[in-house]
Amino acid sequence: MNYPVRNQQSFTVTTPLYYVNDVPHIGHAYTTMAADTIARWQRLQHRNVLLITGTDEHGQKIERTAIAAGVDPQVHCDRIVARFDSLWSKLNIQYDRFSRTTAPNHQIIVKEFFQRVWDRGDIYQGTQQGWYCVSCEEFKEERDLLADHHCPLHPSKQVEWRDESNYFFRLSKYQQQLEALYTECPDFILPNSRRNEVLKFVAQGLQDFSISRINVDWGIPLPTDPQQTIYVWFDALLGYMTALLDPDVEPSLENALQQRWPINLHLIGKDILRFHAIYWPAMLMSAGLPIPDRVFAHGYFTKDGKKISKSEGNAIDPIDLVDRYGAEPLRYYFLKGIEFGQDGDFNETRFVEIVNADLANNLGNLVNRTLNMAKKYCQGRVPNCNAEDISADNPLKILGQKLGTQVSVAYNNLAFKEACESIITLAHSSNKYIDDLAPWALFKQDKHAELAEVLYSALESARLAAYLLAPIIPKISTDIYRQLGLEIDFDLIGSNNISKLNADASEPPGDWDRHLEWGILKANHLLGEPHPIFAKLEPPISVSI
Ligand code: MSP
Repeated sequence: MNYPVRNQQSFTVTTPLYYVNDVPHIGHAYTTMAADTIARWQRLQHRNVLLITGTDEHGQKIERTAIAAGVDPQVHCDRIVARFDSLWSKLNIQYDRFSRTTAPNHQIIVKEFFQRVWDRGDIYQGTQQGWYCVSCEEFKEERDLLADHHCPLHPSKQVEWRDESNYFFRLSKYQQQLEALYTECPDFILPNSRRNEVLKFVAQGLQDFSISRINVDWGIPLPTDPQQTIYVWFDALLGYMTALLDPDVEPSLENALQQRWPINLHLIGKDILRFHAIYWPAMLMSAGLPIPDRVFAHGYFTKDGKKISKSEGNAIDPIDLVDRYGAEPLRYYFLKGIEFGQDGDFNETRFVEIVNADLANNLGNLVNRTLNMAKKYCQGRVPNCNAEDISADNPLKILGQKLGTQVSVAYNNLAFKEACESIITLAHSSNKYIDDLAPWALFKQDKHAELAEVLYSALESARLAAYLLAPIIPKISTDIYRQLGLEIDFDLIGSNNISKLNADASEPPGDWDRHLEWGILKANHLLGEPHPIFAKLEPPISVSI
């Protein structure tokens, strides 16, 4: 069952389409958890959201991996796709579309798009010479390489010399138009540090890039020269368009672009910024299509200060992490513990500390003690008062009344850490307020009005914190709501995933439109049975050498 979407204003967000040369990496999970949080936040605002994720399945890297494993490339891709899908399900990612570049629909879109660019005169034949990194699927400048021709991003891999006849895209023709885009739409590339990187790169002068390969079979044949296949990046970026095709319509560019183009937000890591902020808009300009609103490139994270890589032996298996700790602690940690946009570090001890401090000691404690006091002193009901009865100088009311706006701004700016900090400050202040006002003493002294004010404001603050955290920890938030006697399942708000849609969709009991405000709980409302919302995580066992 799903709650229906009332406000039809749409919002479309994408993750990168991940390579399937290997099983999912913790970095893939990071971007996808952030995208899911954004999608859930937008759904909570009643927007009609489409969250697109998927896989990039062509190219030499994947072809070689399949050959090395002795399997047909398509069989290899299908196996890895199943691993991605299972991870997304474990992490409670509510994606609406999964775009695969080996899908038959995608070929149609790529060929049509290619034709538009061809007709524009922006594709020509030339010779490509240079150093190619198969892991990056990108040509590299000699000056950027490490000693002995190793790729800076894949230090264990040597780049390969290429000298072949390819088809080129006239990127250089779009230099001025791109510069105008960056000036006219200063928010097109975020954060600002990344925008500056792009501006600097573009100012050096753009060079045309080859969009076909002669020695790669695992790809879409070039419509004008089937001896060649389309370069994996030219192919993959168009996967965002293929994703927009409704399942029951005829696959065509026109049908794909009809409803949701341009995309509102491409969420990516900083490693693939040039493709999204330079190549992609230029390709769209050439095809005469509108440009997406925004590309946000987040940072990279390391593990215990070191680059994460299999060869270093410090790869983190996201499935193992979810199995050991659960999805919600991970979702919380990655969004609260690392400033979104900056590089960060994953450290398991810090992860356990942050999650235990915020979700167990702060929020969990607040919910549990407040509900238990309501049970003891108010027969398991909200005290006999409403938000209007709470004095204007009540510290929780003051904080709570500002919080909805503050956190909305933070979510809209993708400042997840800031959003979490503001919410946890309310929980922390609520615990302190309870300690200071000691409701147990007020009860003994028969100070009923004071007791009611303390309990009402603490319960309402717990509710608001749960609501605002719902995009990050939907199951914990739903549990808190249930304990507060409010039946809203945050997992059921507005997902478009066809397979999850149910014709019996009904309105959630109560109306969550106003839940962003402080003061929703009603006098004497019956609360649910209290139980702990979160069991503290055990710190990892450290291995001493
Ligand atoms: N296939 C291309 C994307 C095509 S989009 C049309 C690709 N795939 S990838 O599998 O290499 O994924 C790269 C993305 O994974 C990064 O941009 C980032 O979103 C995520 N990350 C992978 N490792 C990461 C870290 N160590 N840290 C943070 N994010 C990382 O590039």
